Amino acid sequence: MQTQSSNGADFHNSKLFTPVKLGAIALDHRIIMAPLTRLRTDMPGNIPNDMMAQYYGQRATKGGLIISEATVVSTNGHGYLGAPGIHTRAQMEGWKTITSAVHAKGGKIFSQLWHVGRQSHSDLQPDGGLPVGPSEVFHENFAITANGWVPVTQNRALTISEIHAIIKDFRKGAEHAKEAGFDGVELHAANSYLIDQFLQDISNKRTDHYGGPIENRVRFLLEALEGLVAVWGADRVGVRITPNGTWGNMGDSNPAALFGHVAERLNEYGLAYLHVVEPRILNNIEKEEAYVEPIAAGQLHRIFKGPILSAGGYTREDAEKILQKGDAAAVAFGRFFVSNPDLVERFRNGYPLNAYNRATFYGGNEEGYIDYPFYQSAVNA
Ligand SMILES: Cc1cc2nc3c(=O)[nH]c(=O)nc-3n(C[C@H](O)[C@H](O)[C@H](O)COP(=O)(O)O)c2cc1C
Repeated sequence: MQTQSSNGADFHNSKLFTPVKLGAIALDHRIIMAPLTRLRTDMPGNIPNDMMAQYYGQRATKGGLIISEATVVSTNGHGYLGAPGIHTRAQMEGWKTITSAVHAKGGKIFSQLWHVGRQSHSDLQPDGGLPVGPSEVFHENFAITANGWVPVTQNRALTISEIHAIIKDFRKGAEHAKEAGFDGVELHAANSYLIDQFLQDISNKRTDHYGGPIENRVRFLLEALEGLVAVWGADRVGVRITPNGTWGNMGDSNPAALFGHVAERLNEYGLAYLHVVEPRILNNIEKEEAYVEPIAAGQLHRIFKGPILSAGGYTREDAEKILQKGDAAAVAFGRFFVSNPDLVERFRNGYPLNAYNRATFYGGNEEGYIDYPFYQSAVNA
């Protein structure tokens, strides 16, 4: 297997391997496993299974934090066949084996609570209905159904009572996450999904108190968040945002004002953390076409008073840099965790990394999921 080296930096003063507290969660190191959708639940029912427990168990470390793949809270919140839910009892029971596998290794795990909003297809909706979102705005993207990647179905706008029902679903998801043995929850307000769709004015054209000025567009996020905080206490709740995301036809007329306001309002709660996905350009990955002014962890760190998790294109060296600078309390890694079940040990020892195979990211079986080699077994083979 091809390798990506992470050798060559000076780690005498490494901060990655120092303890940190994220709200009530005390960690031994600062390498977080980012939320990663892998679409391998038992269908029908979107039920987490033993293979998933094995996958998470492989990646758990003593004193480390895993954030689960995005997990759907409402029956109309699905957009990808095979993604897990947490709205039924069976789904909740399925998660128990996963949280146990992580705890058996001395690790912690948060549940990332999700509603895809307009990013869906009728085939995935109750009774084949239309996907729902803040407003009926044309956008181009793909959902995953039994027919594979298919263009989304044009959504309809949510009524006020439906908005209230989804906010209740987020709370119910938080309750189920507690019953399933998670250590906390992360509100998925990133990546063009429902909460992000309410935040940004490209997708939110409402004229009621959930649309219009920034203060109104933030309302849905805060009301969903309050349900999570009521169940868990704020120090076991995080929020994830992508202030620079353009994927899914996203964008805002004033992202700095919008996400600055979000960070300010989140200060009122005393959350475990704010999780910020960095613009890729900061970490020397390819420049995206619609790239404008980035809003990075560094800027939000000056507004948000609690711990910041930073994600997006990090190597071990880049992670060390942002930690040294003090702009983040911990760094989340995505793709490297897909292909390196022992990523933490590889970083600790400067071992080379397994390359990831994109073809097996979404859906499928054990291949590209639980069969990536651990470093020691690879060298002994
Ligand atoms: C296969 C895959 C699935 C992902 N699923 C999610 C998800 O469920 N929730 C989420 O917030 N981000 C998701 N992301 C984004 C990652 O959490 C992360 O922010 C992104 O991969 C950038 O980090 P990296 O450069 O370390 O991979 C996903 C990314 C990949 C590659």
